[in-house]
Amino acid sequence: MKKNINFLDLGLQPLANNYIKKNQLINKEKKYRLKIGVNLKTKLVSINKPISSKIMFNNRYPYRSSKSKTMIESFKNLSILVNKKFKPNKILEIGSNDGSFIKNFSKKKVIGIEPCSNVEKITKKMGFNTYPKYWNYKTAKQLLKKNGKVNLIYSANTISHIKNLDEVFKSINIVLDDHGVFIIEDPSLLECLKKNTYDQFYNEHIYVFSLVGIESILNKYNFEVFHIENLKIHGGSNRYFIKKKQNKRKINLSVKIQRKKEIKYGITKLSTYRKFARRVKSSRKKLKNIFIKINSKNKKIIGYGATAKSTTILNYCKINNNLISYFVDTTKDKQNKYTPGTKIPIFKYSGLIEKNVDFIFLGAWNFKEEIFEKEKKFIKRGGKFIIHTPVPKII
Ligand code: TMP
Repeated sequence: MKKNINFLDLGLQPLANNYIKKNQLINKEKKYRLKIGVNLKTKLVSINKPISSKIMFNNRYPYRSSKSKTMIESFKNLSILVNKKFKPNKILEIGSNDGSFIKNFSKKKVIGIEPCSNVEKITKKMGFNTYPKYWNYKTAKQLLKKNGKVNLIYSANTISHIKNLDEVFKSINIVLDDHGVFIIEDPSLLECLKKNTYDQFYNEHIYVFSLVGIESILNKYNFEVFHIENLKIHGGSNRYFIKKKQNKRKINLSVKIQRKKEIKYGITKLSTYRKFARRVKSSRKKLKNIFIKINSKNKKIIGYGATAKSTTILNYCKINNNLISYFVDTTKDKQNKYTPGTKIPIFKYSGLIEKNVDFIFLGAWNFKEEIFEKEKKFIKRGGKFIIHTPVPKII
């Protein structure tokens, strides 16, 4: 198989979700060189040196999908659609996190796989049939033995975190009924390139998928995409509806349209990625200048949403605790800790932005609408937001 051609170097980066406790501040953090490459044969875009899953997804994982109204609504709507369209009697979710999706189904119907045992405990406590396991061949065989085949598998923002895609699909093949449906939801490469959201790349996001990239893997395992939805979630995601080839379900026109859009934009050409890398460099310069200018006027900037994505931005642009006073975040496991690499304190979101705050850097830019709605008071008193996508600006 051809090798990746690197097109973007995001420098030395800490583990994106490794929020630092106060007593660990003096320790040297482990950093990893984050380079992004494209494989022109498979069209898959990925980071060059993935870190072991065990280091990233363990019993200290802080992310909770239930922390966003947008995500909860999206999962709820999908569960309604899934029940109506596919009428599944057994559902498996890979990467069930704290249960925002499986909660919409009867406990008898769903199985969840979640490798971060601190998060998996939450759903187990609620009485769901969940397992603290990574998605691999061994897990699939164990599941088959215990629960039999399933007719619907869903996985949001998880498959792109798994290095060995061959094993992912071989394992899906084992547990998915021949007439079953596999739904993958992940950030869209096309949107990432268009919106210059280079922060979609961090050590957990091993891949940022396009339809053409996904199809190159599916082909090997006798799967095909029969429908695709473009979602606003996470700044632009795709929901791929996949089936086994022997299943005669009709292929929706959306698949052809998406493939055309991606090819027209240049997803299969190296020059597209080289241009993207140049835009990313220029974005860094612009964003840093915005911070320096505001700082020189003695105005106060805080961050909103200490996201894994913002770890990439802050470390790449070298924006640290001299430029951002603190972050607010609703996730308990991030509060009273410090941002990886840049050591900016993270506080509990109290529901009110302090009066002396002039600017908010939107770490959770992917929930912009939800946050703007929540922060009407801040906006009304003249407060401004700093955002890096599609170009760094103050809004
Ligand atoms: P994500 O972009 O990786 O999903 O992370 C979003 C982070 O932003 C998560 O830590 C929760 C936080 N957040 C807030 O603090 N306030 C909000 O209103 C929203 C939507 C998210």
